[in-house]
Amino acid sequence: MCGIVGFTGSRDQAAPICLDALTKLEYRGYDSAGICVLSGGEFNLIKAQGYVKILAEKTDGGRALPGTTGIGHTRWATHGEPNETNAHPHISSGGLFSIVHNGIIENYAPLREFLISRGYEFTSATDTEVAACMIEFFFRETREEKPNETPEAQVVEAISRAARRMTGSYAFGILYKNCPDRIFAAKRESPLFIGVSPEGQYLTSDIAASLHKTREFITLADHEIALISPEGVKVFSGELDELEKKPETVDWDVEAAEKAGYEHFMIKEIFEQPEAVKKTISGRIKNGRVVLDDLDISEEYLKNISRIYITACGTASYVGVAAKYNIERYCRIPVEVVIASEFRYCEPILDETTLVIAISQSGTTADTIAAVREAKRRGAKVLSIVNVVGSVIATESDWTLLTLAGPEICVASTKAYSTQLAVSYLIALRLAEVRGTISAGEYAAIIADLQRLPEAMKTALALKPELSYLASRYFIANDVYFIGRNIDYAVTLEGSLKLKEISYIHSEAYAAGELKHGPIALIENGTLVVTVAAYAPLAEKTASNAVEVKTRGARILAFTTEKTAAHFKEIADNMIVIPDIHEALLPSLAVVPLQMFAYYVALGRGCEIDKPRNLAKSVTVE
Ligand code: F6R
Repeated sequence: MCGIVGFTGSRDQAAPICLDALTKLEYRGYDSAGICVLSGGEFNLIKAQGYVKILAEKTDGGRALPGTTGIGHTRWATHGEPNETNAHPHISSGGLFSIVHNGIIENYAPLREFLISRGYEFTSATDTEVAACMIEFFFRETREEKPNETPEAQVVEAISRAARRMTGSYAFGILYKNCPDRIFAAKRESPLFIGVSPEGQYLTSDIAASLHKTREFITLADHEIALISPEGVKVFSGELDELEKKPETVDWDVEAAEKAGYEHFMIKEIFEQPEAVKKTISGRIKNGRVVLDDLDISEEYLKNISRIYITACGTASYVGVAAKYNIERYCRIPVEVVIASEFRYCEPILDETTLVIAISQSGTTADTIAAVREAKRRGAKVLSIVNVVGSVIATESDWTLLTLAGPEICVASTKAYSTQLAVSYLIALRLAEVRGTISAGEYAAIIADLQRLPEAMKTALALKPELSYLASRYFIANDVYFIGRNIDYAVTLEGSLKLKEISYIHSEAYAAGELKHGPIALIENGTLVVTVAAYAPLAEKTASNAVEVKTRGARILAFTTEKTAAHFKEIADNMIVIPDIHEALLPSLAVVPLQMFAYYVALGRGCEIDKPRNLAKSVTVE
């Protein structure tokens, strides 16, 4: 979720154009930025840690980088700390290529080893520098094999050869030292566009960044490689056939473009969830097993864990509640979820066999930081699940597993929650495997369903029209109660929080069996009770609880799976049916329609969805 920009023209300076485009991408909150301009056969490169305005100061508004061809980048760190060394562009070890990259090269570690064995050297910890050196390696090979080809053709072929060796996703902007005025670009899975105009061509990973310059854009497809010059753009297939690609006119307004056509960041981020979950799990499942290369924990330690505390705030803490059900069920380790603001005041009983899992999107939440420090002070080990590399929580924990959600702009969390859940499944599976508490069959069944989870999430997202209709029926509610049992209860906590924080409707989540111990007194004629009953073993019992409130006048909006739907056919006023999946993974599917329901209710009430009143994205005070 970084940002790529580039410009090549015959008159205008590239660096100020790149700076301007980078600024347009900055609403996402990036951590470092850089620009490289190719001029007189030399790369002039300036990078800065922090916001684009620091880069603008360092480059004197771009004037320090004269030249009409350049590339730029804003980084959201995934490999390596967010510092200047790891910022893009990266220059290949032999100095021939300068490159900016979005995406993740999953097999960068063996490729790095291979390149080191061939004499390549690395200055950063990034997968991008590996990609730069791979292109250089194949360029040298191509040049030797085909000395009569033009340098442009040699570079295009080198990119294609290198790309075939890389697994994962990429969008590249590439400068080759000896091709003045040329930018090369290639993509797989990460978006990349080229804005064309008489003044020159604009490379961008996000149309929003260049929409004020041109409305004509070529969309690169997976595996395609572009050769961009001031005069125009040539596009080649991965097999190096030249393609006929015509620019298309984009008529979005600029604000809509930042949201890729969505009305709010929240709904955009809801729809980004399948991709974010896929990114988060894909490199961590190999040959049907969870392989956490990024987690240097000994099996000995994992076997000896006697107790787990999960600590977090808000949405992140509800991931903890879902994780508790799975870890206790599959790993047979007692798990306690303590909200971070309470953790240091509850005298937690910790020792070296206690694992504390801290969950945080931002990695800067004051209470969660304090909980991490308290856990360490009391002698426990801390594993954090964090979305921001180099954040305080990531830095201070013994181990960190990153969620690869990319920047989350809407204050209400959606894709961070989903990726945190995904990581929690990986942890549960790894622990269960090491401790021998799960059968091979069950393990394989969960892995298989985890791999198809992103697709199943897309099916859940397709329920959007039904949810928008239901929201139009219920948006006038004053009080909403959410009920569910077991892992469904964990989801109701999140569904209820989403609804209250963005729509300002009073809502509460209860374990369904708890309802008659008090809260049922609040049920009146017409009170909406959202009933989540995806977990098949207890769906019938949850249905009985729904009947209890229905007989007292409640309206029942049931969220079931195909398997559990039958229990609600006679009871529910309205039903949403999500796809079936292994019960351990149900929260990931059940939450999607709940998020959309909250979104459309808030939309119906005219609320400021992305920035709800009184809330901040990162809570850095106690
Ligand atoms: C709710 C929400 C908050 C955060 C909480 C923790 O939608 O986003 O409840 O989950 O403030 O923030 P992080 O995860 O940054 O520690």
